[in-house]
Amino acid sequence: MIRALRLWARKHTERGRYSPVGVAFHWVMAFLVLFQLGWGYYTSWIPVGGDKLYAYQVHSAVGLPILLLALGRLGWRLLIPGPVNDADEPGWQSQFAYAVHYVFYIAFFGLPLTGWAMWSSTAEPGALYLAGIIPWPQLPFDQLSLDQRWQVMQAAETVHLWLVVTVLIVIPLHVGASLKHHFWDRHDVLRGMLPEVPDAEDPQAAPQHSPREPRIPDEKAAG
Ligand code: HEM
Ligand code: HEM
Repeated sequence: MIRALRLWARKHTERGRYSPVGVAFHWVMAFLVLFQLGWGYYTSWIPVGGDKLYAYQVHSAVGLPILLLALGRLGWRLLIPGPVNDADEPGWQSQFAYAVHYVFYIAFFGLPLTGWAMWSSTAEPGALYLAGIIPWPQLPFDQLSLDQRWQVMQAAETVHLWLVVTVLIVIPLHVGASLKHHFWDRHDVLRGMLPEVPDAEDPQAAPQHSPREPRIPDEKAAG
């Protein structure tokens, strides 16, 4: 089964592309995380009351699926190697890109887990629903004293907010780097993460990609 999946994915990765599963994970999760950042910030401005509670319920309902998607994505990533693309040159830039990917994976787990911990450590936790429909359990904090719950809440809130700050720093670096590789270096890295549109007329979707010539030819080549 895993061998068959690897063979299927290799048809994409040997052309410098992420498999459609990797692409779907990437864009669905990127959209959800960006939504959560905006919605979480908006929610923090709503005055305490029913609207704020409802907004946090929406925040939790959208955030909890990220935890399950993160498990699926990590499993996929560990079993199915990603592509090697033009940007995979030895050096600090590749190492930095991988480090940013690790940070994203930490956030994919850390944000929902700390959100879940915050929710479960309130004195009377409200009900949680995955995607607003499927009942989701509370973490087993009911044996803790109120004082201990308060400490859990404080710690979870601090980590949640620090992860938010971290993600807000690395997203512009990640997006900026992918645009720089695409428009400046003319590397295939962003193309490999976009859904493939099968169109033989479209060179962007051509099955075989080879890096374009450098924009400024070196002196030898220029004669
Ligand atoms: C990737 C997923 C998530 C992201 C990006 C995210 C982002 C945010 C942001 C931006 C805030 C507002 C911070 C502020 O300005 O005060 C926030 C607050 C909060 N989030 Fe999340 N969140 C995520 C997942 C979750 C989940 C799954 C839950 C609950 C199950 C949750 C529960 C909360 C709570 C309770 C707060 C209020 C914290 C406070 O006391 O200020 N979050 N989150
Ligand atoms: C417009 C926004 C975005 C663009 C253009 C973009 C582009 C890309 C590209 C080109 C890659 C492949 C990098 C490589 O193979 O070295 C990639 C990988 C990745 N991106 Fe993004 N990205 C965007 C937003 C995001 C966001 C918001 C997140 C996180 C919430 C994210 C998380 C990741 C992760 C974790 C990987 C590693 C691939 C994997 O292990 O699954 N990206 N992205």
